[in-house]
Amino acid sequence: VSKSQLEIRSFKGTYRVKLDQGLFSALASQDVSGKQYIVDAKVAKLYEKVLSKVLKSGKCLLIEATEENKNLDQFTSHIEKLVAQGVRRGNTLVAIGGGVIQDITCFLAATMFRGLDWTFYPTTLLAQADSCIGSKSSINVGAIKNLLGTFTPPKEVFIDPSVLKTLGPTEIRSGLGEMLKIHIIDGPASFSKISAQYGKMLEDSSTLLEFVFSSLEIKKRFIEQDELDQGIRNVLNYGHSFGHAIEAATDFAIPHGIAVTLGMDMANFVALRKGRLSETLYQGMHSTLRKNYAGFEKTPVPFDRFLSGLSKDKKNRDATLGLILLGEDGVPTVGQYPKDSALIQACTDYFATQTVN
Ligand SMILES: NC(=O)c1ccc[n+]([C@@H]2O[C@H](COP(=O)([O-])OP(=O)(O)OC[C@H]3O[C@@H](n4cnc5c(N)ncnc54)[C@H](O)[C@@H]3O)[C@@H](O)[C@H]2O)c1
Ligand SMILES: [Zn+2]
Repeated sequence: VSKSQLEIRSFKGTYRVKLDQGLFSALASQDVSGKQYIVDAKVAKLYEKVLSKVLKSGKCLLIEATEENKNLDQFTSHIEKLVAQGVRRGNTLVAIGGGVIQDITCFLAATMFRGLDWTFYPTTLLAQADSCIGSKSSINVGAIKNLLGTFTPPKEVFIDPSVLKTLGPTEIRSGLGEMLKIHIIDGPASFSKISAQYGKMLEDSSTLLEFVFSSLEIKKRFIEQDELDQGIRNVLNYGHSFGHAIEAATDFAIPHGIAVTLGMDMANFVALRKGRLSETLYQGMHSTLRKNYAGFEKTPVPFDRFLSGLSKDKKNRDATLGLILLGEDGVPTVGQYPKDSALIQACTDYFATQTVN
């Protein structure tokens, strides 16, 4: 298999994901006709030269990548600006940025004129290795994150590792968190592979690209089987029940992929307590996971807010928590667990021993 291209089968047809150096700089000479660009304002500034044709096309909306800007109440403004720039039926929306720009563009593509095509140049590691495939758009409403959404696959995705050079180390680790997650889900052998290269991924862009590719390859298997998230795709939320609760309790002071790294470590700790996961597997993962969240374990997590966040998870049923825990074989399964004193104690002890509090 070529490591420079993937094809994803979707309910709306197959789309191609290209991975290569130079895909981003090709934007310098792109034919802009029929396109409407939506670009991360920070990326526009950092790559002003390469994007000069795009920025001067007259059909380029700059948006700052903040959670507020993917809130429903900002959409009137986004749409009015697009209309003023002359967006019309038949145009292709081109997203250039990370997950925030992706979510905004994907949601607009799903709804404007009852549907527009969209393509994507992901510029964060998280978007390149994880969110760019899978078709989901997620929009915030009021204080509720990712409440509105659609399944709207892109037409094509262009991944260029050279744009990651300007990302800060925290954003890199956030992306690595999701990459570690997907390899854990793939099984202990897959995790050992990425774990052994953890340090090298930070130094060598071709090693990093190799694992971006394997992350997408693994995710592809899940989304092609269950694009609409009604069964097997659920396990991609491993680490996310605890991770989201940590994000919410800290007012999003911890970037998503790093909170997920803490969330996986915590899920493993709970699985260890329940006698589901062996000490050996737990420790093996713990040593890599802690490298990835290093520093952030000191962020205070108010425990009552953490518990109330955990109780609001979408996977919960009436009285039980929906958690994804690894079994003895290191394979994750979705299960319902009572929110009993043993579980609460395990969470308390995790925070105490990991000095998160
Ligand atoms: N739809 C999905 O499937 C899906 C999946 C995961 C996450 N998400 C969403 O994605 C968002 C997080 O996305 P993200 O982690 O990609 O972050 P982001 O889009 O918020 O970007 C993070 C920061 O990096 C900056 N940035 C982007 N590219 C850069 C570059 N090349 N160089 C320097 N700075 C750059 C941005 O301006 C921003 O400040 C969340 O809102 C999350 O809910 C969506
Ligand atoms: Zn995630």
